[in-house]
Amino acid sequence: MTSTVVVGGFFGDEGKGKIISYLAIKDNPKIIVRGGAGPNAGHTIHDGDKVYKVRMLPSGFLNKNAKVMIGPGVVVNPDVLLKEIQDFDASGRSFVDKYCGIIEEKHLISDSKGELKEKIGSTGSGTGPANADRAMRVLKMAKDVDSLSSLIVDVPLEVNSAIASNENVLVEGTQGTFLSLWHGTYPFVTSKDVTASGICADIGLGPKNVDEVIVVFKSYVTRVGTGPLANELSLEDAKRKGWSEFGTVTGRQRRAADFDFDLARRAIMLNSATQISITKLDVIFPDCAGKTSFEEISDEAKSFIKNIEDELNTPVTIIGTGPAINDVIDRRS
Ligand code: IMP
Ligand code: MG
Repeated sequence: MTSTVVVGGFFGDEGKGKIISYLAIKDNPKIIVRGGAGPNAGHTIHDGDKVYKVRMLPSGFLNKNAKVMIGPGVVVNPDVLLKEIQDFDASGRSFVDKYCGIIEEKHLISDSKGELKEKIGSTGSGTGPANADRAMRVLKMAKDVDSLSSLIVDVPLEVNSAIASNENVLVEGTQGTFLSLWHGTYPFVTSKDVTASGICADIGLGPKNVDEVIVVFKSYVTRVGTGPLANELSLEDAKRKGWSEFGTVTGRQRRAADFDFDLARRAIMLNSATQISITKLDVIFPDCAGKTSFEEISDEAKSFIKNIEDELNTPVTIIGTGPAINDVIDRRS
């Protein structure tokens, strides 16, 4: 039985949502718990012909036997959360901590104009201004919001009790390592630390109780919003390669570059990764689309993966080969 933390290794949008939903079903954790910033995150999950876009609900919600939780470090927009719980049939198994901060109208307003919007390219979700109010100790908490009262549990206690009783717990991060307020490309970053340590602090999980840290990299790098992106391709080149993507939350076109080993090496270090997940291998090697075993993929694709393992000195265990939840090569024994 293990606790597994999943975080993004680049600038968010690595495809964590799909990897988490795969693990949520495959490993059948008792609890799937989300850390990270807030509804600035957007995860897209394809299940059969259904496409889910979640901003607040943990991406593991498709496993109906698991409880999904949001840790006290995360700021919550009650309207967004309650709508997702209803739309995605997750009531009765979705919970928040009483100390989750609350995004209010004023945070949405201040996030949609001025410096944050223009210079940083913030998502306008109110996440940054709410976290600023939290630091000022004036932010409203989930325990003070009537519409959330039936959702409140002691998230750190639930998580640690499950681990103490040898249950699987899946911890999902949001954003990516280089959007971290501490370790990212400041000031073009989000309003929290989003490396594995920060995500664990958000949910009250101490470092000695973490078994596995999976850092998710996409086969190429994308970045939405402003800030440095080494070896950035022109939008036309990105389009030609099939790397044009649009943000889940903002709809903005993502900027793109080749897989970046310098960033990846640093992400492995900052997160103390024990495993790597590579997503969208099929975008780089179309012959890998939908493959579920490593033996089936082309030699070129195999060397791409082996090169990553050699350069980063960490095993690539989970490989995404398409948008569906089970388009995965799982090399964990
Ligand atoms: P904020 O977190 O909304 O203030 O946005 C700060 C920066 O982080 C902007 O460049 C956003 O585009 C980026 N960002 C925030 N959340 C995500 C995410 O989940 N994926 C990708 N980029 C994000
Ligand atoms: Mg996203």
